[in-house]
Amino acid sequence: MNDLSALPDDFLWGAATAAYQIEGSADADGRAPSIWDTFSHTPGNVDGGDTGDTACDHYRRWPEDLGLMRTLGLDAYRFSIAWPRVVPLADGRVNPAGLDFYDRLVDALLDAGIRPFPTLYHWDLPQAQQDRGGWPERATAERFAEYAAQVAARLGDRVTDWATLNEPLCSAWIGHLDGAMAPGTRDLTAAVRASYHLHLGHGLAVHALRAAVPGARIGIVNNLSTIEPATRSAADLAAARRADGHINRWWLDPVLGRGYPEDMLAVYGVDLPVRDGDLELISAPLDWMGLNYYFRQIVADDPTGPAPHFRQLPGPNPEHTAMPWEVHAPGIEELLLRLTREYGVRRLYVTENGAAYHDTVAPDGTVHDPERTAYLESHLAACARAAAQGAPLAGYFAWSLLDNFEWAYGYDKRFGLVHVDYPTQRRTIKSSGHRYAALIAAHHTRTPQPVA
Ligand code: FCB
Repeated sequence: MNDLSALPDDFLWGAATAAYQIEGSADADGRAPSIWDTFSHTPGNVDGGDTGDTACDHYRRWPEDLGLMRTLGLDAYRFSIAWPRVVPLADGRVNPAGLDFYDRLVDALLDAGIRPFPTLYHWDLPQAQQDRGGWPERATAERFAEYAAQVAARLGDRVTDWATLNEPLCSAWIGHLDGAMAPGTRDLTAAVRASYHLHLGHGLAVHALRAAVPGARIGIVNNLSTIEPATRSAADLAAARRADGHINRWWLDPVLGRGYPEDMLAVYGVDLPVRDGDLELISAPLDWMGLNYYFRQIVADDPTGPAPHFRQLPGPNPEHTAMPWEVHAPGIEELLLRLTREYGVRRLYVTENGAAYHDTVAPDGTVHDPERTAYLESHLAACARAAAQGAPLAGYFAWSLLDNFEWAYGYDKRFGLVHVDYPTQRRTIKSSGHRYAALIAAHHTRTPQPVA
């Protein structure tokens, strides 16, 4: 039997969202388009032609959503701040009305006893910055730090927990190499340059936050995967090493002071636009590291495919989510332990973890999602096992508070603890959400809770 008693007493129980996925009100109060507005409005990019124009209408309905957080008993809420609301254009001018929204949200969270965990960049680059070259250009990193300073100047008197970037892997590799996310580029050189400037932007933003917010606790959020070779052949083993470089080490090593992995520099064959002092900036000391975990990757050599020449095979576990990602809870334990033992990280949060299923509202108005409950329990149990083995895990944020705009998959993929009926915007806490609330309440009173 598993239980969660190894999680520390002050463990933070949270849920996560991202601005473009929930807010809607895409042109309200001075917001300008981001690369995701452009991308989602381009036919063929998003399933069903969906866009974030309305999403969960959270920009207007946030008090109700805060009520849901209270009902769930959350200790913390991870959300992202929309750069295109705060500095909408390329002229650097701050839009105070955009900041007002987050100002009100932060006050209300604090009143409710819920700790705000804002992320400064969850993929919504202002289109005006993209028009000037976007992340492949150094100037974007510099503009990002200026925006970070503006947000910190407004919220830093009340917010102590900050994340710079969400999943820079997706911005660089999916946005600039695969082209399946905004801005939809397919170019290795652009992708590698984007990854570098994302890191530089992160480092510059850490400095800006430290200058503006004494006592700030700053982290970065990476999506990592455990990697397994499809066979024991030398070619597949080498492919697994490359996949680990591409998915994990490229995103951890430079930020944690180890520089860029030499083997991957050779694989990409793209010169990094490094200037003196950059690597020190990129590896600025952090207070925590965020892990987003969804699946493991089983990889095979793919010599004819694009660099880095591996392809992902379906996982053997018959349990898959609607994405359809393989369910593999041991991966989260393994990654938390790797961050602890190999990288020496001293404070960890699971900043996202969750699953999409085809949820429906029953005639009695309830939403019964036993698969998501099982997913949540098995992954929390794996987190507790990691904590029992020494991982300094300080909190867990379920992805997601609400069903929302799942990027290129549109609204069809539902990850919420709370169901959203989009035509009416009615919210219904799913049975997994009730279970999560019960686990939180039990932990707060140190009542042992067996989990799946
Ligand atoms: C992560 C993203 C998040 C959400 C989940 C399912 O990669 O950070 O916004 O889309 O996947």
